[in-house]
This record gives sequence, structure tokens and C-alpha cells, in this order.
Amino acid sequence: MIVNEGAVDQLEFLKTLAEKSDGGSLRGDYSKADAHYVVAQDWAAYTPEQHALWRKLYQRQARLVPGRACDEFIASLAALHAADAIPDFERTSEALFKATGWRLVAVPGLVPDHTFFEHLSERRFPVTVWLREPQEFDYIVEPDVFHDFFGHVPLLFNPIVADHLQQYGKGGLKALQLGGLKNLARLYWYTIEFGLMQTERGLRAYGAGILSSGGEIEYCLTSKTPRRIAFNGERIMRTLYKIDSYQETYFVIRDFQQLFDETAPDFAPIYARIKDADDYPANSLLPGEVDIGI
Ligand SMILES: [Fe+2]
Repeated sequence: MIVNEGAVDQLEFLKTLAEKSDGGSLRGDYSKADAHYVVAQDWAAYTPEQHALWRKLYQRQARLVPGRACDEFIASLAALHAADAIPDFERTSEALFKATGWRLVAVPGLVPDHTFFEHLSERRFPVTVWLREPQEFDYIVEPDVFHDFFGHVPLLFNPIVADHLQQYGKGGLKALQLGGLKNLARLYWYTIEFGLMQTERGLRAYGAGILSSGGEIEYCLTSKTPRRIAFNGERIMRTLYKIDSYQETYFVIRDFQQLFDETAPDFAPIYARIKDADDYPANSLLPGEVDIGI
């Protein structure tokens, strides 16, 4: 849900919504959202054409994930039975709740940071209800139901990721108080959205932005252009990122336990330490760092 650098507080978010009618960029119908930005999914309203587009998106990505996505993602995706139609969030929630105690909530699109963190901290994952248009098959700026569901939901069935995301949500609420949102958003970006994992059988993707992308899923693993650097939380929190192109740097974890353990401590001392430090460009390699290559 966090898509850009810098804090988007409630007021700014509402301002963005207000601009929407003047050609602003946020999509989605917020008129029926409750105080937590939750709406009814209204599954029956999806058209046969939309389900067909979902199938095409799903089939393309399902062909790409073997050998590219981490095993945990592939196993959970298969168990979701989401290949044939846009999923009914309620049904998925029942299975998810049994597995890890999480639920999906339907939202009109991007939600304010505070709302997003609140949902995560209470083990609710916000999933956008609308699907991209056919001409956006390869690229979409804002997250749609395909990105949110295909990219994020499978790993919510993994107990460690499930606990990590709840912890992240709680950390987000704290970061809002401490002025650390910008830094914490970068962590989300470089892990939950664009993270790679080094496995015994080679590099694999676990970030939702990669796993829901037809192009970056191959690029991040095989292109010689981007850097691949071992995960370092504080370093990531100082690193800028690109929202309109493939990533210039990917950070690589060993496994989800590492991600959980290294992001568990209180970030307050880190925020204080890096508050006035310079940001690193998205393509930087610092002294002592190794590009682990491909
Ligand atoms: Fe996402």
C-alpha cells in the first residue's frame, strides 16, 4: 500500500482524494468506505470479462513463478485455487484465518498509512477490489486486486511472514509517532514488495511487486543491470527507491526467519540515528558491500 516516498498523512490523503475528480491519480470508489476504508467486495458485480482478464493475468504469472518465486509462495498459491476467477475474499479469509489468523478486508484502493498499519497490526490485509483494464495488462501504477491478491495473499499463509507483517503494522503505528515513516516505508518496499531470497537452489523472489509483474520477475533474477545486496535493515531505511521503473537494487534475505528476527527490535534508536543522515541513491553500492550477482 505504501507507494511513494514520504509521509502521506490523513489530511494529504484526503486532499489527494479530493483532487481525483480533477484528474488526480487515485482510482477506486471511496464513497461507500467505512471509517477504516473497508468496503463490501461485491463479488457478484465483477463481469465475465473481468474474470477472463483475471484468468489471463493469473495464467501468465503462474507460468512464470516456478523456479523464480520462493517455495513458500508457490505452495500457498496452489492451495488458493484462485486460477479461474477473481477470488471471493470471504472464502479466502476463512482458509487464511484457519492457517494464520489473518483475514482479508476489501478496500477501494490505497488507504492512508495509519489505516493500513492499523489493519496489519490486527492481522487484516487490505485488498483492493477493482481490477486493471485490459490495456494495463503489463503495467499498472496503483495496486489493483491482481497485485494485492496474487502478490501478497499467498505468503500470508506462511506463519513467519504472517507474524512479520503484523509486527510491521505495529511498527508502522509507532513510526508515525516517531517520524520514521519514510524509513519504514523503504523497508516494506525493499522486502514485502521487492525482496529476493537466497535459497539452496538459487535466488528466488518473494516480493509482491515482483511476483505480480510479468517482466520484473525475470529481470530481478537474470538481468546484470540491478545490484543484489545482502539484507541490512538500517541500510535499506536510508535507501531511495524507484516507483516507475524496475528496481535498481534488490536486497536479499536468507529466509523469512532472518527478516522477522532483524526487523523485530524497536526501530526508535535507528530512526534517531539516521534522522539527519544522507539518503543513499537507489543504485548505490557502499564500501564493504558486495554485489552478490546472479
Ligand atoms: Fe503491494
